[in-house]
Amino acid sequence: MTTPILEARDVWRSYQRGAETIHALAGMSLTVQPGEMVGIVGRSGSGKTTFLNQVGCLDTPTKGTITLCGTDVTGMPEKELVAFRRDHIGFIFQLFYLIPTLTAVENVELPMIFARERDRRARAREALARVGLSEIHALPHQLNGGDMQRVAIARALVRKPRLLLADEPTGRLEHGARVAIMEIFRGLRAEGLGIILVTHDPTLAAETDRIIELRDGRIVDERKAG
Ligand SMILES: Nc1ncnc2c1ncn2[C@@H]1O[C@H](COP(=O)(O)OP(=O)(O)OP(=O)(O)O)[C@@H](O)[C@H]1O
Ligand SMILES: [Mg+2]
Repeated sequence: MTTPILEARDVWRSYQRGAETIHALAGMSLTVQPGEMVGIVGRSGSGKTTFLNQVGCLDTPTKGTITLCGTDVTGMPEKELVAFRRDHIGFIFQLFYLIPTLTAVENVELPMIFARERDRRARAREALARVGLSEIHALPHQLNGGDMQRVAIARALVRKPRLLLADEPTGRLEHGARVAIMEIFRGLRAEGLGIILVTHDPTLAAETDRIIELRDGRIVDERKAG
């Protein structure tokens, strides 16, 4: 049996707002196998981003366990958690978050600088080739949205994560660019990455292996895509 990339069990994330307790996540469980792409939908405030933040080790659940590639990260000390996240997880956001003063290839080199790795330029070039971007010395503002997202994906992939977390990655893109991004995700899934995709984009949702719907921090529906 293969080890799942993610096993989230009964995850809760609660916030205190004055006297009120808000359960952004209220018992979320999800398993993702290698080579599996799971779509998450749900209206605004249903807990989609909160869930990605717990899975991506950016935040710590109030209750429940998160196991990534066989390692229980719940309760892991902050320093180890940061290293674990850098080694295993790639994040992609709707707004790209590229550094505006750095070129495409320099943006992709950044995670390797933080991890003090060698051969950065060669590996950044390779990652950009992988996502089909040729203008590697362009600054972000010289690129269109689709190409900016290619740079962000290359940056997420350059250290070869096992799990890719994408929060509305095509929310700002036109149809052609959305199709191109989907094509990249399809290739990554074939290589065995686990992918969790928060999206309302039917083009993307149709390509996932299954879609789960969140409401009030828990799963209310699960269906095959397509
Ligand atoms: N830091 C925080 N403090 C208090 N409440 C929070 C915090 N972060 C999120 N919440 C609340 O948790 C709930 C879930 O928010 P979340 O951002 O996960 O929703 P979402 O499904 O990603 O929504 P959207 O589609 O708008 O991105 C909301 O009620 C939100 O107000
Ligand atoms: Mg969100």
